[in-house]
Amino acid sequence: MTPSHTNLTAVPSHRVTDEIASVVLEQDGQTIHLRLDPLVPEPALARFDPAYLPSQAQVVASGGRAAAWFVQLASLEAVLRHFKRGGLMARLVRERYLWLGLERTRSFAEFDLLRIMWQAGLPVPRPLGAAVWRGRLTYRAALLTQRIQQARPLGQCAEPKVWFEAGRVIAQMHQFDVWHADLNVFNLLVDAQDKVWIIDLDRGRRKALTAMQRAENLSRLLRSVKKVAPELESTCWHLFKQGYQAVFNDA
Ligand SMILES: Nc1ncnc2c1ncn2[C@@H]1O[C@H](COP(=O)(O)OP(=O)(O)O)[C@@H](O)[C@H]1O
Ligand SMILES: [Mg+2]
Repeated sequence: MTPSHTNLTAVPSHRVTDEIASVVLEQDGQTIHLRLDPLVPEPALARFDPAYLPSQAQVVASGGRAAAWFVQLASLEAVLRHFKRGGLMARLVRERYLWLGLERTRSFAEFDLLRIMWQAGLPVPRPLGAAVWRGRLTYRAALLTQRIQQARPLGQCAEPKVWFEAGRVIAQMHQFDVWHADLNVFNLLVDAQDKVWIIDLDRGRRKALTAMQRAENLSRLLRSVKKVAPELESTCWHLFKQGYQAVFNDA
């Protein structure tokens, strides 16, 4: 890649897997690691900066922690997320995480998990890029995914067939042995064709799942229904469970 930023020396890509480029850059004595889908246009590093004007970044108003933007990557619409902490730790270290190796950084781990799921045909947004700014002991991280058009959160959706479909989609994710760390009604998006998408795989894992871990995912989702749209528990939750069960019965 040929970054247009001054003061950047590109070290040649050390690995290219499945068309995904892994790039290492040095900037002001700091090391920056990128994973890039070929769809990400140059200058690639700038695409992780919401202040980069051609991105026309718009803050995502709903659902997140105020660190997500809709961005324009040339003609492609994407979502840029900067990883930020919630809760008490946020006051101390808002966006720095302890370095435990590149594969375990929040953005690379989510990118790699999304990529496996996307390649398997699961309804997750295509991961476009991951960035890690490495300090001595800590790092900052950012992720780009393809934007799901005209998406609304499942919590704002009262159509029974959509809830049945959401159940099917979560069952497929579980059959693929993925555990979602934050399954809630904002992390399931419904598009204009009523297709249900799973987003926010931050801290998700691919591992052999026990029945208890699957049930724990579902009860977290139900807690979120009760909190955000309690009326949906009586009108739609049973359909979610039917959709979920239908996939396991077919297996
Ligand atoms: N690929 C996407 N397409 C459309 N909207 C998205 C997409 N990814 C995230 N969003 C929106 O951004 C919000 C925040 O993103 P998310 O990945 O859930 O991060 P977090 O909840 O940790 O802030 C989501 O609730 C959703 O509204
Ligand atoms: Mg979320």
